[in-house]
Amino acid sequence: MMPEKIAKILCIVGARPNFMKIAPIMRVFGQHENVIAATLLHTGQHYDAAMKKSFFDQLHIPEPDIDLGVGSGSHAVQTAEIMLRFEPVLDQLKPTAVLVLGDVNSTISCALVAVKKGIPVIHVEAGLRSYDRGMPEEINRVLTDQISDLLFTTERSAEANLLREGIASERIYFVGNVMIDTLRYNLDRAAEPGMLFSAAGEAIDQAAFNSGYGLVTLHRPSNVDNPDNLKTLLTRLNSISEQLPLVFPVHPRTVQRIKEFGLENLLTSSRILRLPPQGYLQMLGMMKHARLVLTDSGGIQEETTALGVPCITLRENTERPITVTEGTNTVVGIDPEKIQASVDDVLATGGKRGRVPEYWDGEAAERIAQVIIKWAQGRIIKTQEAG
Ligand code: UD1
Repeated sequence: MMPEKIAKILCIVGARPNFMKIAPIMRVFGQHENVIAATLLHTGQHYDAAMKKSFFDQLHIPEPDIDLGVGSGSHAVQTAEIMLRFEPVLDQLKPTAVLVLGDVNSTISCALVAVKKGIPVIHVEAGLRSYDRGMPEEINRVLTDQISDLLFTTERSAEANLLREGIASERIYFVGNVMIDTLRYNLDRAAEPGMLFSAAGEAIDQAAFNSGYGLVTLHRPSNVDNPDNLKTLLTRLNSISEQLPLVFPVHPRTVQRIKEFGLENLLTSSRILRLPPQGYLQMLGMMKHARLVLTDSGGIQEETTALGVPCITLRENTERPITVTEGTNTVVGIDPEKIQASVDDVLATGGKRGRVPEYWDGEAAERIAQVIIKWAQGRIIKTQEAG
């Protein structure tokens, strides 16, 4: 007979991209509550209602059991603060394992505290590599993978990356993409973008938006913290908007930089709808109906591939190569001519069709649960044998 609650899993979230990934995991863990006891901890890295609460509400994520309330800061301050506040929680809860997601500062901070206390780390979305060490996320990915006991991957290239870095193959499980679990689960609930356009009133050219639009997101430090790069990008967006109206939900980091660098005048066209950060169902609806998406996000490259919507990635590289080889993604960087050529191509041809990658089928969280249950059973048997 199976022992009660063989696995006490402490699940960590911190920043917006973690929220859509934890939703299916918490739901599936709940379906296995006879064996898995899941606790949810939010570090507080993202705290604005628009960056946090709306995701919890819309995706029915349970209220975190623990909120560390760290807030913003430099990388050192944020990472250190999470570690300091996380340690006593870990001492008190003594989980079987700590589960971390993706590549944000909360991921590495909690993983590092756990591993040094001998608590196994489970990394969901392991093995992605941009091979660009200038990205803070790349550092977080490489280091988290090195100290993880179970590594769950979203695409096959990730396993090859991990093997090259010396990770034992028996720790790696190709399970698919939990973010796409969320997308499939919520697709029918996605908001109709027309609502946003009509709410925008006179600020925008309604007729133009109703006949098709592009969706834009920008928040990578390499794009928005550098005044020249940000100016180049906004200038190009301004001219693209003459061909195709643009919807631009602006990340808080980008709002600050636009103000700081005095670039507001580049976003005043009635063919650019500038919005605050949007909820999940709003973004999903806007992506689903867009003619194209221009972005520097990682997750949106995957979501557009799952939706079959052309994505033009405003970065020099991607850690998600399957979105290019199989999906709808084209990585163009920030050269204005290349961006323009790519937009022209999508508008003329409809862009890449692509196909949905292997295991992006809505079942990734269930596969993760199955692996964790087996792994936890194995540990119990080993302990019994040793005793
Ligand atoms: C973080 C992640 C990034 C992810 C992004 C999604 C790291 C290293 N980066 O970047 O991988 O793609 O989240 O959004 O973890 N701010 C607010 N309200 C908030 C949160 C932040 O106004 O709720 C502002 C603060 O001024 C803060 C700035 O945004 O200083 C940046 O926040 P931070 O969490 O440091 O990184 P992101 O750029 O959001």
